[in-house]
Amino acid sequence: MAEHIHPIFDRLLQRADREARLGQHSKAVWLTGLSGSGKSTIAQHLERRLYNEGFFAQVLDGDNIRHGINSNLGFSEEGRRENIRRIAEIAKLYAHSGVITINSFISPTRAIRQMAREIIGADDFIEIYINAPLEVCEARDVKGLYEKARAGLIKGFTGVDAPYEAPENPALEIHTGQLGLEQSVEQAFAYLLPLITLKEPTTINEQAVPKP
Ligand code: ADX
Repeated sequence: MAEHIHPIFDRLLQRADREARLGQHSKAVWLTGLSGSGKSTIAQHLERRLYNEGFFAQVLDGDNIRHGINSNLGFSEEGRRENIRRIAEIAKLYAHSGVITINSFISPTRAIRQMAREIIGADDFIEIYINAPLEVCEARDVKGLYEKARAGLIKGFTGVDAPYEAPENPALEIHTGQLGLEQSVEQAFAYLLPLITLKEPTTINEQAVPKP
């Protein structure tokens, strides 16, 4: 099928053109960790922090993905794999449009995260391990789901009766059991800043826009 598609690349705007317009390098920031570890809260505050500093970022998390494009998926191994596969494809599209994504998903296994890394591309995939001990997440139990899982009302809950494999070599690890929210967000922001800052002033490529 694909061989009959002939994109005309010289008329198309390139990723670098979009990045120049937005004044940033786009990346897919990938927050992994247990339910209740603080991923979503950090993602939201990081998005705001980046915005306030003039960057353009979009949070992708369960609220905008599992209720929408992935509403047909559950939490079996296959469901989670397909969840992450689609999200990685979406994050890749965002990266190519110059936008930073902050992806906040348990993404529980190394194989699942490796798939995301391969789809997005290793250069754009920034894995951040939001590390809080299970006891801490369970004690917080913000959504009351650990209690339900312990009572057997939810089967296959990550950390209870489904696995969570910690990343072996994350770009960054944030210990949310020890750090406050502000420090956690700061750690992520400080790590990202040199990676998303355009090195030299770039010129906007107006030539790439077809003349009417
Ligand atoms: S993932 O494993 O596919 O990456 P994802 O991050 O999208 O998971 O969704 C996790 C959220 O779904 C949890 O924070 C929790 O609110 C909810 N959830 C519902 N069932 C489960 C389950 N069996 N395991 C983990 N989280 C679940």
